[in-house]
Amino acid sequence: MLYRDTWAQINLDNLSYNYLSIKKTINKELFCVLKANAYGHGDYQVARTLQQIGCSYVAVSSVDEAMTLRRNGYTNNILILGYVKKENIKLLIEENITMTVTSLLGLIELNDISLEGLKVHIKIDTGMNRFGLKNIQDINSAFTLLKCKNAIIEGIFTHYHSADSIDKTSCERQCKWFYHIVDQLNYKFKWIHTCNSDATLSFLDERSNAVRVGLVLYGVKSIPSEIDVRPVLSLYSKIACIKKVKATETIGYGATYSCDEDEIIATIPIGYGDGFITTNKGRFVSIEGRACQIVGKVCMDLCMIKVPEMYNIGTKVEIIGEFTSVEDMGRQLNVIPYEVLCLLNDRVPRVFMKNNQEIEVINLRVDK
Ligand SMILES: Cc1ncc(COP(=O)(O)O)c(C=O)c1O
Repeated sequence: MLYRDTWAQINLDNLSYNYLSIKKTINKELFCVLKANAYGHGDYQVARTLQQIGCSYVAVSSVDEAMTLRRNGYTNNILILGYVKKENIKLLIEENITMTVTSLLGLIELNDISLEGLKVHIKIDTGMNRFGLKNIQDINSAFTLLKCKNAIIEGIFTHYHSADSIDKTSCERQCKWFYHIVDQLNYKFKWIHTCNSDATLSFLDERSNAVRVGLVLYGVKSIPSEIDVRPVLSLYSKIACIKKVKATETIGYGATYSCDEDEIIATIPIGYGDGFITTNKGRFVSIEGRACQIVGKVCMDLCMIKVPEMYNIGTKVEIIGEFTSVEDMGRQLNVIPYEVLCLLNDRVPRVFMKNNQEIEVINLRVDK
Protein backbone atom coordinates (compact mmCIF):
# COMPACT_ATOMS: atom_id res chain seq x y z
CA MET A 1 0.00 0.00 0.00
CA LEU A 2 1.21 3.49 -0.85
CA TYR A 3 0.21 6.19 1.63
CA ARG A 4 2.62 9.02 0.86
CA ASP A 5 2.98 10.38 -2.65
CA THR A 6 6.60 9.50 -3.23
CA TRP A 7 7.54 6.26 -4.91
CA ALA A 8 10.13 4.51 -7.06
CA GLN A 9 8.63 2.85 -10.10
CA ILE A 10 10.33 -0.36 -11.19
CA ASN A 11 9.73 -1.39 -14.79
CA LEU A 12 10.13 -5.16 -14.78
CA ASP A 13 9.65 -5.37 -18.57
CA ASN A 14 12.72 -3.17 -19.00
CA LEU A 15 14.63 -5.40 -16.59
CA SER A 16 13.76 -8.47 -18.67
CA TYR A 17 14.60 -6.57 -21.85
CA ASN A 18 18.03 -5.67 -20.48
CA TYR A 19 18.78 -9.22 -19.35
CA LEU A 20 17.92 -10.63 -22.77
CA SER A 21 19.73 -7.84 -24.62
CA ILE A 22 22.98 -8.29 -22.64
CA LYS A 23 22.78 -12.07 -22.95
CA LYS A 24 22.24 -11.89 -26.70
CA THR A 25 25.13 -9.43 -27.10
CA ILE A 26 27.74 -11.30 -25.09
CA ASN A 27 26.46 -14.86 -25.31
CA LYS A 28 27.61 -15.95 -21.84
CA GLU A 29 25.80 -16.84 -18.65
CA LEU A 30 24.78 -13.77 -16.64
CA PHE A 31 25.32 -13.82 -12.89
CA CYS A 32 22.90 -11.03 -12.06
CA VAL A 33 24.16 -8.92 -9.16
CA LEU A 34 21.40 -8.17 -6.67
CA LYS A 35 23.44 -6.64 -3.88
CA ALA A 36 21.92 -3.87 -1.74
CA ASN A 37 18.29 -4.72 -2.49
CA ALA A 38 19.12 -5.17 -6.19
CA TYR A 39 20.71 -1.71 -6.35
CA GLY A 40 17.58 -0.31 -4.74
CA HIS A 41 15.19 -1.98 -7.21
CA GLY A 42 13.72 -4.61 -4.87
CA ASP A 43 15.76 -7.80 -4.66
CA TYR A 44 13.09 -10.46 -4.56
CA GLN A 45 10.97 -8.97 -7.36
CA VAL A 46 14.09 -8.62 -9.50
CA ALA A 47 15.22 -12.19 -8.72
CA ARG A 48 11.78 -13.62 -9.49
CA THR A 49 11.52 -11.73 -12.79
CA LEU A 50 14.99 -12.88 -13.84
CA GLN A 51 14.24 -16.48 -12.88
CA GLN A 52 11.11 -16.40 -15.05
CA ILE A 53 13.16 -15.45 -18.14
CA GLY A 54 15.87 -18.06 -17.64
CA CYS A 55 18.51 -16.52 -15.39
CA SER A 56 20.00 -19.34 -13.36
CA TYR A 57 22.40 -17.49 -11.04
CA VAL A 58 22.21 -14.32 -8.97
CA ALA A 59 24.92 -12.83 -6.77
CA VAL A 60 24.49 -10.99 -3.47
CA SER A 61 26.90 -9.61 -0.91
CA SER A 62 25.96 -11.40 2.31
CA VAL A 63 24.13 -14.29 3.95
CA ASP A 64 21.42 -11.80 4.98
CA GLU A 65 20.78 -10.87 1.35
CA ALA A 66 20.82 -14.50 0.26
CA MET A 67 18.37 -15.47 3.01
CA THR A 68 16.04 -12.58 2.08
CA LEU A 69 15.73 -14.18 -1.34
CA ARG A 70 15.26 -17.70 0.02
CA ARG A 71 12.66 -16.57 2.61
CA ASN A 72 10.71 -14.97 -0.23
CA GLY A 73 10.68 -18.19 -2.18
CA TYR A 74 13.56 -17.73 -4.63
CA THR A 75 14.83 -21.21 -5.52
CA ASN A 76 17.60 -20.74 -8.11
CA ASN A 77 21.34 -20.47 -7.52
CA ILE A 78 22.72 -17.69 -5.31
CA LEU A 79 26.41 -16.78 -5.03
CA ILE A 80 27.48 -14.78 -1.97
CA LEU A 81 30.33 -12.47 -3.02
CA GLY A 82 31.31 -11.44 0.51
CA TYR A 83 32.82 -13.13 3.57
CA VAL A 84 30.76 -15.78 5.35
CA LYS A 85 31.26 -16.57 9.05
CA LYS A 86 31.83 -20.14 10.20
CA GLU A 87 28.49 -20.15 12.09
CA ASN A 88 26.63 -19.70 8.80
CA ILE A 89 28.20 -22.50 6.74
CA LYS A 90 25.64 -25.12 7.82
CA LEU A 91 22.84 -22.79 6.72
CA LEU A 92 24.45 -22.30 3.31
CA ILE A 93 24.64 -26.06 2.78
CA GLU A 94 21.01 -26.54 3.87
CA GLU A 95 19.79 -23.68 1.68
CA ASN A 96 21.98 -24.57 -1.34
CA ILE A 97 23.69 -21.18 -1.34
CA THR A 98 27.12 -20.86 -2.95
CA MET A 99 29.98 -19.28 -1.03
CA THR A 100 33.00 -17.31 -2.21
CA VAL A 101 36.32 -18.40 -0.77
CA THR A 102 37.65 -14.93 0.05
CA SER A 103 40.94 -15.83 1.77
CA LEU A 104 43.02 -18.82 2.86
CA LEU A 105 42.81 -17.72 6.50
CA GLY A 106 39.02 -17.57 6.24
CA LEU A 107 39.00 -21.09 4.86
CA ILE A 108 41.35 -22.45 7.52
CA GLU A 109 38.86 -21.22 10.14
CA LEU A 110 36.43 -23.79 8.70
CA ASN A 111 38.85 -26.67 9.25
CA ASP A 112 36.89 -28.25 12.11
CA ILE A 113 33.41 -28.18 10.55
CA SER A 114 31.84 -30.14 7.73
CA LEU A 115 31.96 -28.59 4.27
CA GLU A 116 30.38 -31.63 2.62
CA GLY A 117 28.18 -30.43 -0.23
CA LEU A 118 29.10 -26.74 0.17
CA LYS A 119 29.31 -25.11 -3.28
CA VAL A 120 32.15 -22.62 -3.60
CA HIS A 121 33.66 -20.19 -6.06
CA ILE A 122 37.29 -19.27 -5.41
CA LYS A 123 38.10 -15.60 -5.69
CA ILE A 124 41.52 -14.70 -7.02
CA ASP A 125 42.91 -11.32 -6.03
CA THR A 126 44.68 -10.00 -9.11
CA GLY A 127 45.14 -6.47 -7.91
CA MET A 128 42.01 -5.11 -6.23
CA ASN A 129 43.39 -6.11 -2.80
CA ARG A 130 39.96 -6.51 -1.28
CA PHE A 131 38.85 -10.15 -1.20
CA GLY A 132 40.64 -13.06 -2.83
CA LEU A 133 43.62 -15.38 -2.68
CA LYS A 134 46.78 -13.88 -4.05
CA ASN A 135 49.41 -16.52 -4.65
CA ILE A 136 49.49 -20.01 -6.08
CA GLN A 137 50.68 -21.60 -2.80
CA ASP A 138 47.59 -20.28 -0.96
CA ILE A 139 45.34 -21.33 -3.80
CA ASN A 140 46.80 -24.84 -3.85
CA SER A 141 46.34 -25.11 -0.07
CA ALA A 142 42.73 -23.93 -0.43
CA PHE A 143 42.13 -26.52 -3.15
CA THR A 144 43.54 -29.34 -1.02
CA LEU A 145 41.44 -28.33 1.97
CA LEU A 146 38.24 -27.95 -0.03
CA LYS A 147 38.71 -31.25 -1.84
CA CYS A 148 39.51 -33.25 1.26
CA LYS A 149 36.42 -31.85 2.97
CA ASN A 150 34.19 -32.71 -0.03
CA ALA A 151 33.20 -29.16 -0.86
CA ILE A 152 32.04 -28.65 -4.44
CA ILE A 153 34.51 -26.36 -6.23
CA GLU A 154 32.18 -24.93 -8.84
CA GLY A 155 33.74 -21.68 -9.97
CA ILE A 156 36.69 -19.33 -9.98
CA PHE A 157 36.69 -15.58 -10.51
CA THR A 158 38.45 -12.26 -10.17
CA HIS A 159 37.36 -8.61 -10.17
CA TYR A 160 38.91 -5.73 -12.16
CA HIS A 161 39.73 -2.58 -10.24
CA SER A 162 39.57 -0.12 -13.18
CA ALA A 163 37.09 -1.56 -15.64
CA ASP A 164 35.60 1.93 -16.07
CA SER A 165 38.88 3.30 -17.41
CA ILE A 166 39.36 3.82 -21.17
CA ASP A 167 42.88 2.49 -20.73
CA LYS A 168 42.48 -1.28 -20.52
CA THR A 169 46.07 -2.04 -19.50
CA SER A 170 45.17 -2.94 -15.92
CA CYS A 171 42.30 -5.21 -17.03
CA GLU A 172 44.67 -6.96 -19.42
CA ARG A 173 47.27 -7.38 -16.68
CA GLN A 174 44.73 -8.71 -14.16
CA CYS A 175 43.14 -11.01 -16.74
CA LYS A 176 46.51 -12.45 -17.76
CA TRP A 177 47.48 -13.07 -14.15
CA PHE A 178 44.12 -14.70 -13.45
CA TYR A 179 44.44 -17.22 -16.30
CA HIS A 180 48.07 -17.85 -15.39
CA ILE A 181 46.69 -19.12 -12.06
CA VAL A 182 43.71 -20.94 -13.58
CA ASP A 183 46.02 -22.82 -15.96
CA GLN A 184 48.26 -23.99 -13.13
CA LEU A 185 45.28 -25.45 -11.26
CA ASN A 186 44.45 -27.84 -14.07
CA TYR A 187 40.84 -28.18 -12.88
CA LYS A 188 37.62 -28.12 -14.93
CA PHE A 189 35.60 -25.28 -13.38
CA LYS A 190 31.93 -25.10 -14.24
CA TRP A 191 32.01 -21.31 -14.05
CA ILE A 192 34.80 -18.87 -14.82
CA HIS A 193 33.94 -15.16 -14.55
CA THR A 194 35.93 -11.94 -14.43
CA CYS A 195 33.78 -9.09 -15.81
CA ASN A 196 31.42 -6.68 -14.06
CA SER A 197 29.20 -4.38 -16.15
CA ASP A 198 31.91 -2.01 -17.36
CA ALA A 199 34.28 -4.85 -18.24
CA THR A 200 31.43 -6.71 -19.98
CA LEU A 201 30.84 -3.64 -22.14
CA SER A 202 34.43 -2.70 -22.84
CA PHE A 203 36.81 -5.61 -22.36
CA LEU A 204 36.99 -9.03 -23.97
CA ASP A 205 37.75 -12.00 -21.75
CA GLU A 206 37.36 -14.83 -24.23
CA ARG A 207 38.03 -17.63 -21.77
CA SER A 208 35.26 -16.91 -19.26
CA ASN A 209 31.80 -18.42 -19.63
CA ALA A 210 29.93 -15.98 -17.38
CA VAL A 211 29.88 -12.33 -16.34
CA ARG A 212 28.65 -10.65 -13.15
CA VAL A 213 26.44 -7.76 -14.18
CA GLY A 214 24.76 -5.27 -11.88
CA LEU A 215 24.52 -1.68 -13.06
CA VAL A 216 23.92 -2.34 -16.77
CA LEU A 217 21.19 -4.85 -15.95
CA TYR A 218 19.29 -1.96 -14.38
CA GLY A 219 19.72 0.03 -17.59
CA VAL A 220 22.38 2.34 -16.23
CA LYS A 221 25.82 2.78 -17.80
CA SER A 222 28.87 4.30 -16.20
CA ILE A 223 30.86 4.23 -19.44
CA PRO A 224 29.75 4.99 -23.02
CA SER A 225 28.46 1.86 -24.76
CA GLU A 226 26.18 0.95 -27.63
CA ILE A 227 24.49 -1.82 -25.69
CA ASP A 228 20.73 -1.59 -25.90
CA VAL A 229 19.39 -1.31 -22.35
CA ARG A 230 16.53 0.64 -20.83
CA PRO A 231 16.29 2.32 -17.42
CA VAL A 232 14.41 0.22 -14.89
CA LEU A 233 13.92 2.70 -12.03
CA SER A 234 12.14 6.04 -12.07
CA LEU A 235 11.36 8.20 -9.04
CA TYR A 236 8.28 10.34 -8.58
CA SER A 237 6.57 12.51 -6.03
CA LYS A 238 3.47 14.70 -6.03
CA ILE A 239 2.89 18.27 -4.95
CA ALA A 240 1.68 18.29 -1.33
CA CYS A 241 1.44 22.07 -0.89
CA ILE A 242 1.74 25.06 -3.22
CA LYS A 243 1.78 28.80 -2.49
CA LYS A 244 2.60 32.22 -3.85
CA VAL A 245 5.61 33.78 -2.14
CA LYS A 246 6.51 37.47 -2.34
CA ALA A 247 9.84 38.81 -3.59
CA THR A 248 12.50 38.91 -0.79
CA GLU A 249 10.76 36.15 1.22
CA THR A 250 12.95 33.17 1.97
CA ILE A 251 12.48 29.42 1.63
CA GLY A 252 13.27 26.68 4.15
CA TYR A 253 15.76 26.19 7.02
CA GLY A 254 18.48 28.77 7.28
CA ALA A 255 16.68 31.01 4.78
CA THR A 256 19.28 30.04 2.19
CA TYR A 257 17.11 30.96 -0.78
CA SER A 258 15.35 34.26 -1.15
CA CYS A 259 12.90 35.00 -3.93
CA ASP A 260 14.10 37.54 -6.50
CA GLU A 261 10.53 38.21 -7.53
CA ASP A 262 7.06 36.94 -6.62
CA GLU A 263 7.39 33.18 -7.04
CA ILE A 264 5.28 30.04 -6.79
CA ILE A 265 6.76 27.44 -4.46
CA ALA A 266 5.56 23.85 -4.23
CA THR A 267 6.47 21.41 -1.46
CA ILE A 268 7.07 17.75 -2.31
CA PRO A 269 7.30 14.92 0.22
CA ILE A 270 10.85 13.68 -0.28
CA GLY A 271 13.94 14.56 1.76
CA TYR A 272 17.19 13.26 3.10
CA GLY A 273 15.24 10.81 5.30
CA ASP A 274 14.47 9.00 2.04
CA GLY A 275 18.05 9.14 0.81
CA PHE A 276 17.39 12.31 -1.19
CA ILE A 277 20.52 14.00 0.10
CA THR A 278 20.90 17.72 0.83
CA THR A 279 23.24 18.26 -2.12
CA ASN A 280 20.14 17.95 -4.31
CA LYS A 281 19.56 21.64 -3.54
CA GLY A 282 19.72 23.63 -6.77
CA ARG A 283 19.09 20.62 -9.02
CA PHE A 284 16.00 20.33 -11.20
CA VAL A 285 13.00 18.05 -11.17
CA SER A 286 10.31 18.06 -13.82
CA ILE A 287 6.58 18.70 -13.94
CA GLU A 288 4.96 17.83 -17.26
CA GLY A 289 8.40 18.16 -18.89
CA ARG A 290 9.08 21.61 -17.40
CA ALA A 291 12.22 22.03 -15.29
CA CYS A 292 11.60 23.14 -11.70
CA GLN A 293 14.50 24.01 -9.42
CA ILE A 294 14.87 22.66 -5.87
CA VAL A 295 15.18 25.80 -3.74
CA GLY A 296 16.18 26.16 -0.10
CA LYS A 297 17.73 23.37 1.96
CA VAL A 298 16.41 19.86 1.44
CA CYS A 299 14.64 18.89 4.70
CA MET A 300 14.37 15.42 6.25
CA ASP A 301 10.96 14.67 4.71
CA LEU A 302 10.36 17.47 2.23
CA CYS A 303 11.86 19.81 -0.27
CA MET A 304 10.60 22.91 -1.99
CA ILE A 305 10.61 23.56 -5.71
CA LYS A 306 10.08 26.74 -7.69
CA VAL A 307 7.30 26.11 -10.21
CA PRO A 308 6.14 28.17 -13.21
CA GLU A 309 2.42 28.15 -12.42
CA MET A 310 -0.18 27.26 -9.77
CA TYR A 311 -0.50 23.49 -10.17
CA ASN A 312 -3.07 21.41 -8.32
CA ILE A 313 -2.08 19.56 -5.18
CA GLY A 314 -1.33 16.01 -6.33
CA THR A 315 0.40 17.08 -9.56
CA LYS A 316 3.06 14.50 -10.44
CA VAL A 317 6.73 15.48 -10.16
CA GLU A 318 9.40 13.43 -11.89
CA ILE A 319 12.70 13.21 -10.00
CA ILE A 320 14.38 10.40 -11.96
CA GLY A 321 12.98 9.44 -15.34
CA GLU A 322 12.86 10.79 -18.88
CA PHE A 323 13.91 14.28 -17.82
CA THR A 324 16.81 13.27 -15.55
CA SER A 325 18.46 9.87 -15.75
CA VAL A 326 20.30 8.12 -12.92
CA GLU A 327 23.53 8.92 -14.78
CA ASP A 328 22.62 12.65 -15.01
CA MET A 329 21.74 12.78 -11.35
CA GLY A 330 25.05 11.13 -10.42
CA ARG A 331 27.00 13.68 -12.46
CA GLN A 332 25.04 16.56 -10.92
CA LEU A 333 25.56 15.26 -7.38
CA ASN A 334 29.16 14.30 -8.06
CA VAL A 335 28.53 10.69 -7.01
CA ILE A 336 28.68 7.44 -8.97
CA PRO A 337 25.35 6.20 -10.43
CA TYR A 338 25.50 3.21 -8.05
CA GLU A 339 25.17 5.65 -5.15
CA VAL A 340 22.17 7.39 -6.67
CA LEU A 341 20.36 4.04 -6.70
CA CYS A 342 21.58 2.70 -3.37
CA LEU A 343 20.85 5.94 -1.51
CA LEU A 344 17.11 5.48 -1.97
CA ASN A 345 16.08 3.75 1.20
CA ASP A 346 13.12 1.63 2.24
CA ARG A 347 11.01 4.65 3.25
CA VAL A 348 10.40 5.01 -0.47
CA PRO A 349 7.83 2.40 -1.58
CA ARG A 350 8.66 0.45 -4.74
CA VAL A 351 5.85 0.14 -7.29
CA PHE A 352 6.42 -2.74 -9.71
CA MET A 353 5.13 -2.41 -13.27
CA LYS A 354 4.61 -5.11 -15.89
CA ASN A 355 2.87 -4.57 -19.25
CA ASN A 356 2.19 -0.98 -18.12
CA GLN A 357 0.19 -2.31 -15.18
CA GLU A 358 1.01 -1.91 -11.52
CA ILE A 359 1.46 -5.50 -10.31
CA GLU A 360 2.81 -5.02 -6.79
CA VAL A 361 3.61 -2.32 -4.26
CA ILE A 362 6.24 -2.94 -1.60
CA ASN A 363 6.20 -0.47 1.26
CA LEU A 364 8.78 -2.07 3.54
CA ARG A 365 8.26 0.26 6.53
CA VAL A 366 4.59 -0.71 6.66
CA ASP A 367 4.37 -4.21 5.17
CA LYS A 368 6.78 -6.05 7.44
C1 LIG B 1 32.68 -8.80 -7.10
C2 LIG B 1 31.67 -8.01 -7.87
N1 LIG B 1 31.33 -8.42 -9.09
C3 LIG B 1 30.42 -7.77 -9.83
C4 LIG B 1 29.79 -6.63 -9.36
C5 LIG B 1 28.79 -5.92 -10.22
O1 LIG B 1 29.29 -4.68 -10.62
P1 LIG B 1 28.53 -3.81 -11.70
O2 LIG B 1 27.34 -3.24 -11.03
O3 LIG B 1 29.53 -2.76 -12.05
O4 LIG B 1 28.18 -4.70 -12.84
C6 LIG B 1 30.11 -6.16 -8.10
C7 LIG B 1 29.45 -4.96 -7.60
O5 LIG B 1 29.84 -4.22 -6.78
C8 LIG B 1 31.07 -6.87 -7.32
O6 LIG B 1 31.44 -6.46 -6.11
